[in-house]
Amino acid sequence: MTTERLTTELGDILRAGEIIRDGGLVAFPTETVYGLGANALDAEAVRSVYRAKGRPSDNPMIVHIADLRGLYPLVRGGKDGVPEAALKAAGRIWPGPLTMIFQKSDLVPYATTGGLETVAVRMPSNETARRLIAAADRPVAAPSANLSGKPSPTTAEDVLEDMDGRIEAVIMGEQCEVGIESTVLDLTGEVPTILRPGVITAEVLAEVLGCEVVYYQALFEKPEETADPEDGVAHTEFRPKSPGMKYKHYSPKARVILIEGTDEDFNKKAKVAGIAAIRRGLKPAVIDYGEDERKAAHDLFADLRELDRQGYDIIYIRTLEESGLGFSVMNRMLKSAGYDVVK
Ligand code: TXA
Ligand code: MG
Repeated sequence: MTTERLTTELGDILRAGEIIRDGGLVAFPTETVYGLGANALDAEAVRSVYRAKGRPSDNPMIVHIADLRGLYPLVRGGKDGVPEAALKAAGRIWPGPLTMIFQKSDLVPYATTGGLETVAVRMPSNETARRLIAAADRPVAAPSANLSGKPSPTTAEDVLEDMDGRIEAVIMGEQCEVGIESTVLDLTGEVPTILRPGVITAEVLAEVLGCEVVYYQALFEKPEETADPEDGVAHTEFRPKSPGMKYKHYSPKARVILIEGTDEDFNKKAKVAGIAAIRRGLKPAVIDYGEDERKAAHDLFADLRELDRQGYDIIYIRTLEESGLGFSVMNRMLKSAGYDVVK
């Protein structure tokens, strides 16, 4: 199929809404990453999202809404089924990069939730995303608009790289402001739990909710360390502790290796590893965001894709301190590196 390039002008947004109502797929910008949108209430449309992404169909999707009224029909028990804490968080953070998990209503097909009894919902702040959802006049299910396993796209060009010819249309919007995906917060248990870290951190949510908010334990699981002098530096080897960790995620074509260290220390290790790579006939690249976590979040996925286009074989990235937003970005960096870290 030919993928239509749409602008953010009204006529094109209305066209995009029509495509979604007709069961088609439209990639669109959000403040986090580009999403691949389909009618969330149409199981067949949702199944075509899995096909376009090459993604296993047990992977649940986030349902995007334009206003709070859009939430109630998705939740079991309607408005009364929405926990107090969710209303609190929505009041302060929506529209924005926060996804919350609810018990689903019968309206939401199991195709959308990957067979789960719960549904993930997010109200994005991006203007184009909001206009699209309004134009579709439906809740819009949207995973990140990348082929399964690749870094999430943060520009329309990156979407086309993966999706050209596989979907009906792309809205050619701006580069995403945040650059990593939304925080996923589970409010269905006793303690609010962050399942996926993002720019809305546990500290922020604890303040908003006025209670303890924890990170899902598996987010802290790290593989065991082993010595591997292949390029003159010690690496960690990946031995997954939980099944979710074994999937390839955020991976460019190039091999990614993280390097820890202060300025001088990092530069020295990057040089040793880089020279060893060149000796093996590889083209190495180095990414160093210093301590700028916002820039790291904003640029990471775009940089990985750009370095792929430039034909680099191996990418060395300086680690960030794992607190606040740094923890969220490191979660992506570690996955893209397959947990390969030079200490
Ligand atoms: O920022 C974002 O969230 C982007 C933009 C497009 O909104 N979307 C996104 O979707 O990242 P995706 O499909 O790549 O990631 C969805 C995440 C996964 O980690 C999935 O496991 C989790 O949300 N999720 C969805 N439904 C869930 C549920 N019912 N229970 C637990 N986790 C769920
Ligand atoms: Mg994704």
